[in-house]
Amino acid sequence: MQQTEEIIVLDFGSQYTQLIARRVRELGVYSEIKPYHTPIAELEAIRPKGIILSGGPSSVYAKDAPLPDRRIFDLGCPVLGICYGLQVIAHLFGGEVEGADRREYGRASIEIDDHSDLLQNLAPQIEVWMSHGDHLTRLPKDFTVMAHTPNAPIAAIKNNRGIYGIQFHPEVAHTPQGMDILANFIRISGCSSTWSPEAFVDATVQEIRRLVGDNKVLCALSGGVDSTVAAYLVGRAIGHQLTCVFVDTGLLRQDEAPQVCSFFVHADFDFLFVDAAERFLGRLAGIIDPEQKRKIIGEEFIRVFEEQAEKIGDIDYLVQGTLYPDVIESTSVRGPSATIKSHHNVGGLPDEMGLELIEPLRQLFKDEVRRVGQEIGVPAVILQRHPFPGPGLAVRILGEITPARLNVLKQADKIFIKELQANKIYDEIWQAFAILLPVQTVGVMGDERTYENVIALRAVTSMDGMTADWAVIPPHLLAHIANRIINEVKGVNRVVYDISSKPPSTIEWE
Ligand code: XMP
Repeated sequence: MQQTEEIIVLDFGSQYTQLIARRVRELGVYSEIKPYHTPIAELEAIRPKGIILSGGPSSVYAKDAPLPDRRIFDLGCPVLGICYGLQVIAHLFGGEVEGADRREYGRASIEIDDHSDLLQNLAPQIEVWMSHGDHLTRLPKDFTVMAHTPNAPIAAIKNNRGIYGIQFHPEVAHTPQGMDILANFIRISGCSSTWSPEAFVDATVQEIRRLVGDNKVLCALSGGVDSTVAAYLVGRAIGHQLTCVFVDTGLLRQDEAPQVCSFFVHADFDFLFVDAAERFLGRLAGIIDPEQKRKIIGEEFIRVFEEQAEKIGDIDYLVQGTLYPDVIESTSVRGPSATIKSHHNVGGLPDEMGLELIEPLRQLFKDEVRRVGQEIGVPAVILQRHPFPGPGLAVRILGEITPARLNVLKQADKIFIKELQANKIYDEIWQAFAILLPVQTVGVMGDERTYENVIALRAVTSMDGMTADWAVIPPHLLAHIANRIINEVKGVNRVVYDISSKPPSTIEWE
């Protein structure tokens, strides 16, 4: 989505690329990430105020080293290369990069030799985060040194055409003055630092109106944060040209369908509720393989959705609430990476239906989406909801999905969530849920021996779902929750708490 002032981050595969864009946005300038090989015409059309070249794991001399189109330096905007980005600049402008005897990873102290523009207002010596094997040994033509370390005599460079390179990472918290450096770059780029959720909403609404014209748009609304914020944005732009379809797959949480419907019946867009529970559960009977479950649910979803689309007729666009972490978990700089799980919210629907995609949140992180949602009037109860996977409880019932097993899980999950909310820790947790295991264990209730189900509880803290840690819930509360589940949910005689982090585990169990 085109914004008025934008800084483009070209991605060379660094684990920190997403952070660069995020930091720039925190400084009030809209920033988007594009692959390093983005065609020059596409970049020209955006008319960026500045370009940042990210770090990356490669060496510029490697056979298939990722290199950008040289013409990015002629777009008339300042360019900042970070780490590998610096080496790209050096390489393309005739400098020399060498593998260092001593690699530099972690904290380092740099001495600033030139306190003008990019390194303005910084202390003479600053702590930075280095992560590089190669370093610069000869300056490219017409460049000067701005900073050095004992191991890297050339740690920052510039020329008089607004091209800058730094060997360290200003975007990470371990470079305490990193934000000042990025702020200096933004100032050099001539941006007015006015990006905010409000500005994002205005620009996105205009852009959607321009794109869609008089056409009709469809959206699969799940009632989760992402699809709801996306639907509200598109709804604000084009009102009843948008129809949102909410499908009850039978795999939703207790009372979820009526709750979601109550939120949307009065929205700015058309809202359709489809009860397809029987169809989904019918097709899932007897299936235990998680990927097969996902595939069936994905296919059935497309079918239900297509039927609705046909009824409405003449639809050209599909709205999806894809977020940045969904994009990077499914792709990499050089194309698709190994699929860990087939997340059906990226891909699937549009391919099958031949619709153009509108993904207004594609560059944002969850917390940014929540701020945009707040700005556009999405109810707070929705914005605070934990993420819920598209395949729903199907991937939280290990083994066969039957109405009876669904019922056990729904009840246990409801107790868990209500207790977290009542004890005011729900909002501190990224995601919490119950899982029904495919094992039975021995227990004793009264004088009777029982042989019943085990419920696992999972609660994690996370910034974006890509990495996560198990949440420390007070033991007395865990005990209370376990007690309630065992006493109130018929068929459960044991509760366990999952203390694995991601990686190496994942958040969901299937
Ligand atoms: P994992 O389990 O991969 O989850 O650590 C990361 C985030 O993605 C959600 N998730 C899914 N979302 N379809 C979805 O729409 C899926 O198949 C799926 N699997 C996991 C998960 O709930 C977490 O928020």
